[in-house]
Formats: sequence, structure tokens, C-alpha cells
Amino acid sequence: MQRLCVMGLGYIGLPAAAMLASRGHQVTGCDTDPRVVAAVQAGQAHFQEPDLDMLLAAALTTGRLAAQAVPAPAEVFVIAVPTPLGPGNRADLASVEAATDAIAPLLRPGNLVILESTVPVGTTEALAARLAAARPDLALPRRGFPAPPGCVHLAHCPERVLPGSMLRELVANDRIIGGLTADCAALARDLYAGFVTGRCWVTDSRTAELAKLAENAFRDVNIAFANELAAICEAMEVDPWAAIALANRHPRVAILQPGAGVGGHCIAVDPWFLAEAAPAASGLIRAARAVNEAKPGQVAARIRALAAGLAGGLEPPAVACLGLTYKADVEDLRASPALAIAEDLARDATLRLLCCDPLLATLPPTLAARPGVVLVDVQAALAQADILAILVPHAAFRALSREVFAGRPVVDAVGLLRPA
Ligand SMILES: NC(=O)c1ccc[n+]([C@@H]2O[C@H](COP(=O)([O-])OP(=O)(O)OC[C@H]3O[C@@H](n4cnc5c(N)ncnc54)[C@H](O)[C@@H]3O)[C@@H](O)[C@H]2O)c1
Repeated sequence: MQRLCVMGLGYIGLPAAAMLASRGHQVTGCDTDPRVVAAVQAGQAHFQEPDLDMLLAAALTTGRLAAQAVPAPAEVFVIAVPTPLGPGNRADLASVEAATDAIAPLLRPGNLVILESTVPVGTTEALAARLAAARPDLALPRRGFPAPPGCVHLAHCPERVLPGSMLRELVANDRIIGGLTADCAALARDLYAGFVTGRCWVTDSRTAELAKLAENAFRDVNIAFANELAAICEAMEVDPWAAIALANRHPRVAILQPGAGVGGHCIAVDPWFLAEAAPAASGLIRAARAVNEAKPGQVAARIRALAAGLAGGLEPPAVACLGLTYKADVEDLRASPALAIAEDLARDATLRLLCCDPLLATLPPTLAARPGVVLVDVQAALAQADILAILVPHAAFRALSREVFAGRPVVDAVGLLRPA
């Protein structure tokens, strides 16, 4: 049993904190958002994730997990705070730095600091330097040098769980353990080996940082290829899903599926951390970003072109946007391309907009502020829409029979209606 302090109780930090508590550790979760702390103290995850409430309730009942606004002394500190993009698509590390500064006064010789947030290459070393400046009384390791005796250890252990399957993947996925020194990595590996059934791959912090960014850049580039192919297919009047399914019969081809764009906190963000570090060497990564960022505008333009063909009636044509979240079966709206499409259409006074997302109880603020935009259930959307725009393949939409979509124009951005 160790005392742990998890900084940031969001999508990554909260499941990790609850999981570590379930394995017998004494965990303090710290979050700067009082609403998050209150929700966790009340035993409620502030986002939907299967089985998380159950794990959280068990951790609170056994007294192994507490949530508070300030960090607590611990042997291990885990940093899982946001790393969004700032101006100019540069990494905004303000939360990582704030969390590091907050734990600095609590550190004792031999403590381990694990950075789980996705970060640009070199950030773990920069945090060690930051801690060294804040705590000149402590020994901090330096990359390429032997760990000084009694030093504070640092490691980067990036997270790669899939929202919707987080608890399963937290245990089952292989884990990258990037130590600033071999000792740092060994300590971090021992912690993860306590609950990870996948393999823990030990490396140095720089390689770990780069590997995590490479995973998301790989996804982004490959989705961009599928999206570009879909645009080419459209110009050629070919069904992109049929063409991709046939190409994928090749034993060494595995093209991803096109969609409405790329959203969320990771794939749309992390490739920029590579591009920022090596602008001249990252042309493909930046081109992929441009392709994926252009996609929502292209889908909105297709919908508007169809609506223009229906104009002239007593009322403006009603467009139903099926799905607003950034991907299927999660309620997360961060950088959602579907939301961007709905916002684009909501600015068009020649349309009525029916938004339908079974995972949302209310309209997102950017849409609620627009006159004439309403949140409707799927039956109302199907009954009232002149144009259907399928933007997210939620299970509730996948369960509908194909017939309900018939009899009006459909923009199927995600291939929901493609033949099986
Ligand atoms: N969400 C994912 O699916 C996913 C997957 C892999 C990696 N990541 C990475 O994990 C990191 C965290 O992402 P997330 O989705 O959990 O973010 P999140 O926004 O859901 O949660 C972060 C939490 O940290 C809190 N916070 C901010 N500054 C803080 C501070 N100084 N001290 C304590 N708490 C603070 C916020 O209030 C928030 O509750 C990011 O770097 C992200 O790229 C996320």
C-alpha cells in the first residue's frame, strides 16, 4: 500500500484514482474545480463511463479515496491535468505547471512523480528542472545521468484508454513507462504492475512522450486519408464506404472509415505537439490536420446545398443533426466536429435546426443561444426533418431501421446507412 495523490480528476485522473484505491492504495484526488471535487465526494463521476460510479462508490466506502481541492502528502504523485492547445496551436502546459508547483512543497526524498498527461517531448525533463528550481533542497534526476541518492523520481506514463471502455482498458492495455532514469522507470513500473494485466514497456521519458504523440498522429493521418478518399469518391460519384471495403480486402491494406471530422481532447490536439517541435519535418502531420479540420465545413456545405434546393416553401427547411458529441456513444463534446457542423448551420437564418443526441439532456450553450435551434428526441427529428444529417453513429441511431431515413435527402457523414 502506498499513499498516492492524483492531480486532476477528469476522464483520465478519476478512473486512475478509483482503480488505484481499489488495489489497496490510499488515494487523495485533487482537482481545482470545486464542482468536480463535490461530485466525487458524493460518489458521482461528473461524466458518463460504464462501471465508474460503482468503482468510485467502493473506493469511497472503504475510505481509500478522498477528493479535495489541494494536494496531500504522498509517496506517489500522479499528474493527469489537461494539456490543450493554446494560441498558434502550441501546447498549453499551464495546468501541468500549476499542478507541479502545487505538489512541489509536499515532495520528500524518494517520492515518485508520474506525468500521465499527454505532453510535448521533453516536458518530463522540464518538470524535473522546474521542481529543482522550486526545491533546491531536493535532489532531482537528470536524463543521461545516474539517479542521485535519495532523489525525487519522475516518469512519463501516458494514458491510451478508450472513453466508454476506460476501466477495462486501464487494466488490459499495454502501458508505456518512461523513466527519467532507470530507477524512476522501475518504481513506476512496480506501481502499474499492481493493476495492469497488459505488458509494461519500460523506456526513457522522451521516447515515452514521443510514442504517445505518435499513436495519436498515426490515427489522425490515417483518418485524414479516409476523409480525403471520401472527398475524391464524392467527386467521382463513387460510394466511399463500398470502395474502402473492397480496397480493404487486400491483405496489406486497412483503410479507416471517413467521418464528419476528428474531435475530442486527443487526436485533434496531440499531432500539433509533434508539428510544433519539428515544423520542417512534419508536413504530412500538418496536412492531415488541415484535411480533418476542413471536414466539418465540407459536411455543412453539403447540407446547406441540399437545403437551398428545398427553399421556397412556407417555412425554412428543417435540418435534423443526428448526433452532436465528438464520437459515438460518449457524451463528450470537446472539439466535436458534429457540434461544429450544427453551430455552422445554426448561424444560417434560412434553416431550422433540430438537434438530436440521445446522450445529451440539454443543448450545448453555443446552440442554446441561437434562436430557432431545438433539442428533440429521435422520433421528433425523424417526423419533422426535411433533411437528415447523420453526424455521429450513436447506438440509438444504429438500432433504427433503414426505412425511417427514406423519403428525404440524407447526408450520411459517418456511413451509418452503408450496406452491411
Ligand atoms: N480523455 C481521454 O480520452 C484521454 C486519453 C488519453 C490521454 N489523455 C490526456 O490526459 C490528460 C487529462 O485529460 P482528461 O481528458 O482527463 O482532462 P479533463 O479535462 O477531463 O480533466 C482534467 C481535470 O484536471 C483538473 N485540473 C486542471 N488543472 C488542475 C490543477 N492544476 N490541479 C488539479 N487539477 C487540475 C480539471 O479541473 C479537470 O477536472 C490530457 O493531457 C489528455 O490529453 C486523455
